[in-house]
Amino acid sequence: MKSRKFAKVVTSLPGKKSADIVEKTAQYLSPSISRFYPLAVESAHGSIVKDVDGNQFIDMAAGIAVLSTGSTHPRVVEAIRRQSERFIHYSYTDFYYGNVVELTEKLLPLVPGDFPKMAYYGNSGAEAIEAAMKLSRNHTKRSLYLAHSGSFHGRTMGALSLTASKPIQRKGALPLVPDVVHFPFPYCFRCPWKQTFPECDYYCVDYFKEQYLEKFVSVDEVAAYFFEPIQGEGGYVVPPPDYFHRMEFLRKEGVLFVDDEIQTGVGRTGEFFGLENFGIIPDAVTIAKGIASGLPLGVMVAKSEVMNSWKPGQHASTFGANPVAVEAALATLDIIKSEHLLENAKNLGKKAVERMLEWKERYEIVGDVRGLGLFIGIEIVRDKRSKTRGEAEAKKIIDYCFRHGALVITAGRNTLRVIPPLNISEEEFTEGLDILEEAIGEVNSTVAGS
Ligand SMILES: Cc1ncc(COP(=O)(O)O)c(C=O)c1O
Repeated sequence: MKSRKFAKVVTSLPGKKSADIVEKTAQYLSPSISRFYPLAVESAHGSIVKDVDGNQFIDMAAGIAVLSTGSTHPRVVEAIRRQSERFIHYSYTDFYYGNVVELTEKLLPLVPGDFPKMAYYGNSGAEAIEAAMKLSRNHTKRSLYLAHSGSFHGRTMGALSLTASKPIQRKGALPLVPDVVHFPFPYCFRCPWKQTFPECDYYCVDYFKEQYLEKFVSVDEVAAYFFEPIQGEGGYVVPPPDYFHRMEFLRKEGVLFVDDEIQTGVGRTGEFFGLENFGIIPDAVTIAKGIASGLPLGVMVAKSEVMNSWKPGQHASTFGANPVAVEAALATLDIIKSEHLLENAKNLGKKAVERMLEWKERYEIVGDVRGLGLFIGIEIVRDKRSKTRGEAEAKKIIDYCFRHGALVITAGRNTLRVIPPLNISEEEFTEGLDILEEAIGEVNSTVAGS
């Protein structure tokens, strides 16, 4: 094993203590959770994670895009400590406290749109989506939802009704919320219509109009269009630049645009919200994951005229806007600004993509590289010509990375996702990418030789 500065694997994996945790997890915890590899965390600081057996890893997964400011940022820890000593809970569903107001005053101006907005707080991404589903029906008095195949919006029954990224997520849970219409996402690398961008001139939008709106969806019955600006769990799929603009005709028909920023938001793409890269102003935005640097917080922001359609009692959650999580969110916003994390995400992301595009030239199994900022996907294929999904190869690559001290995970069936904390240092990231390149090279040689 090469000697490295940050990545230090000193036992076979899983080590003894990790193996024990993994075994007891299988015995006592719900088997509904799927995991990438047997990492059992002992501690994590910045972009370095240590396991219970003393191995050290470079974090390129950020606790699944949650640790925006890295692990245990001192200002986040201090904010949590201070608030924990004052009060830990006092249900904002029934009473008042000030830091939620302060957070909202800071968050609303970051949401695109020069109009009054309001926020609703829950505890998770799925809860933010549930809130947007209820609100959009309530405001429009319409029942239909539009969503994309390949999308991921959460796993509770409402959010799951929008989610369409893997059949297993819905298995055994049917029937779901009725009246969700799914249509294809513009996944240009695997265009459902076998077209090529830009010659296609957005045939995907024409297809949606002709095959959906002209055949069975009455647009005046659609409450909202839910979308991720870049699909996350669906495989890190970046739509072509004008796609959402071309879909904007729906708004003239009274359809609300609900922008799911749960994975793309909070600076991940180098802009505060992923949709800013496409120049679209949404009617509502859902935020979670990175907003509180690891504490649970879900937010749904909507135009005031939309949010004001709710009356007291129509929606709430006991733990929503937990004051400790809110302090962590305030610290997170402050760190993102004062430590220039959007710029860091942009700069490091640009350099990483340039390097990965060279891998695409060099390795047969690197089919596509796509992403913005530190939201980067590498689609692994068996070979470039057939584009057969390299699921087993992607799995081998992340296993190799794990065994060599870098945490990389997959998205969709065969895409590697590279999503380190937004404040990872260039030196740490470069070492992580060195390991990833080595892994790709190793797996490429076995495929090329097979
Ligand atoms: C885009 C998107 N929406 C919604 C969710 C659901 O969030 P949570 O797991 O916090 O419920 C996720 C989680 O991965 C997500 O990536």
